[in-house]
Amino acid sequence: MVVDEKLKLLSLTEKVKLISGESMWRTFPIERAGIPVLKVSDGPNGVRGDGGRAAACFPVGICMASTWNTALIEQVGADIADEARSKDVQVVLGPTINIHRTPLAGRNFECYSEDPYLSGLLASAFTIGLQNKGVGACLKHFVCNDSEFERHTISVEVDERTLREIYLRPFEIAIKKSRPWTLMAAYNRINGIYACSHQYLINEVLKSEWGFEGLVISDWFAAKETVENAKGGLDLEMPGPAVAWGQPLLDSLNRGELDEQVVDDKVARLLRVLDWSGRFDQPDEKSENAIDQQQHRDTAYQAAAEGMVLLKNTGLLPLQAKQLSKLALIGPNTHSFRIMGGGSSAVRPHYISTPMEALAERLPQTELVSLPGCLTHKFIPAPPRQWLSPTAGDAGSVAGLLGRFYADTEREELVLERAIGAATVHARDNIRAVVLEGWLSCESAGVHTFGLLSTGKARLYIDGELLIDNWRNVLPGEAFFSQGSAEQRAELDMIQGQSVQLKIEYEVAPDKNFKAVRYGILGPQPVDGIKDAADLARDADAVLLMVGTNDDWETEGNDRLSLALPGDQDELISKVLEANPNTIVVNNSGSPISMPWLADAPAVIQTWFAGQEFGCALADILLGEVNPSGKLPITFPASLEDTPAFTNYPGEFGKVHYGEGLYVGYRWYSSRSIQPLFCFGHGLSYTSFEYSAGSIVEQNVDGSVTIEFDLQNSGERLGKETGQGYLQ
Ligand code: BGC
Repeated sequence: MVVDEKLKLLSLTEKVKLISGESMWRTFPIERAGIPVLKVSDGPNGVRGDGGRAAACFPVGICMASTWNTALIEQVGADIADEARSKDVQVVLGPTINIHRTPLAGRNFECYSEDPYLSGLLASAFTIGLQNKGVGACLKHFVCNDSEFERHTISVEVDERTLREIYLRPFEIAIKKSRPWTLMAAYNRINGIYACSHQYLINEVLKSEWGFEGLVISDWFAAKETVENAKGGLDLEMPGPAVAWGQPLLDSLNRGELDEQVVDDKVARLLRVLDWSGRFDQPDEKSENAIDQQQHRDTAYQAAAEGMVLLKNTGLLPLQAKQLSKLALIGPNTHSFRIMGGGSSAVRPHYISTPMEALAERLPQTELVSLPGCLTHKFIPAPPRQWLSPTAGDAGSVAGLLGRFYADTEREELVLERAIGAATVHARDNIRAVVLEGWLSCESAGVHTFGLLSTGKARLYIDGELLIDNWRNVLPGEAFFSQGSAEQRAELDMIQGQSVQLKIEYEVAPDKNFKAVRYGILGPQPVDGIKDAADLARDADAVLLMVGTNDDWETEGNDRLSLALPGDQDELISKVLEANPNTIVVNNSGSPISMPWLADAPAVIQTWFAGQEFGCALADILLGEVNPSGKLPITFPASLEDTPAFTNYPGEFGKVHYGEGLYVGYRWYSSRSIQPLFCFGHGLSYTSFEYSAGSIVEQNVDGSVTIEFDLQNSGERLGKETGQGYLQ
């Protein structure tokens, strides 16, 4: 009702304005007609809001999927709705339900599974949890946005049956089961047509066939074709200021290239979402809050603990606290562990539970020792904040550098001045130049490596001398969604206690929609870190070897190049296993890795990126306080050559052929009798389960079947088990 009434009040110009985003996360209000702003936010493992406030950080998609627990994922959705309300957000940009087609895809961590059915069920649960509390979900990215290679333009060449049974299926299930308010049209093309212009997929399949009543939002900057997007079924261009719509759309309408009715339907869909969200009753935007609730902590813990997968255990786990007088925590991810992946899904967590602190709390009698063993960065890491100070003389009292933000490249109009701790500095749209300045004090003598990259131009000075020039010859690179320059590096030998003046000048590239500069400083490294780590391991009762990737490697915008753990981690693992066989390998990655050392490892745990409760969940699994029950929602292949998309990835000449057809994930390994490293559905427990009396008892009208079986915990401990049935 309200939708029809409001629609009647609007002029054509106002209608176009409504469906052409206002800014990064908001649509335009039309005050005259009583239409408020719609505010959306990433998503999906928390709610970032405008970015300034902390948020609850839940495990990423693949970790949630490993729980196979729809009730738990529904609770995550409900808690995320509370978070959205605390940031006055009406639509959360998630869940991400693209398919794990290749293990190399940069955003696999964010997506649930290689299996469309599991993905669809989990997406429905998440959506129901969220929407029952009055906050909208946004299924993304529709469709076939399954890797990051040439992500803005690549055309996925896929046959109809594969599209329907694998890639569209999670969307179809979630739409029919949970009626999401919104859906995001992807960047890529499908069979030559941009997802945002795909008349067949959006208008015919999604809206007509499946009866989707919600709003189709473009992925950010994905709307490129004014008339085609409008005719194809896109409803809202985001973000603003609009490029494809706005004035160009109005011009097209005035030239008669489009009917006003086409726009009316889009406006009606937007108004419907505003209505569902209760926004018409509370039109005034409230400021954002960071509310750290116990309920959210509990859910985040539960999801992390149930999502971690025990891949291998010959009996070393659970650890016996009494037998541990010394425990070595070795590996790059001991301290530089990851709780989320890189890109738009990142949030600023309320807190982070670290493995070191969680273990220290649980093992007060045990001596904990630690060494990283090797490095894994792709880009030079951020320096410890205490190395930097904005002012001379009192290095360390205020950590970070002084940032000055200017509206012009001549740096005459100063807009903002403040101390900045982070080594990645973003510039808002009104900023043209940034200067970061302060003092770097050297904790240990030796060669320090500096790194600098940016979207635009940047240069770094030490004591007034140019050390890194990323200004005159800016080469393309991978950071910042592939909009950043290549990283330029330089070395400087420093004396202990020495303090030098550090200055970074940055000029934004006005044509880039991402405006940021990033610097890194790496202190002197040990001559043989792996040997030091192995020596430390030798001396301990047990070793926790924490390896993995990080958000340099697993991020939106870039795929990985191989399954191998970055850096010298494979060698580190072999040497530590040799030095101490009581070593548990803890892999902190968001997608499969190769494990050439697996035969020698007595225990392996896959933690994924498990959110703010990472440390507590891991410690409780290690010590048997929690019995692991996670199951892989994807296959861990034995080698990259074995994977279904190997010969059809990443694509060439602008196209990627989904030549493996339906044989995605376990369908491939099973039909070809290829032995994977760990199969889909695999996951061990500290107890044992016995299945008996299994039979199919009912064939339902919708084509599904009901399977009945007896399940018994035949072991000594309490445990949880997910039964799996496969139809052929
Ligand atoms: C991502 C989306 C995200 C959007 C807004 C895009 O780069 O693909 O998943 O919701 O940015 O941050």
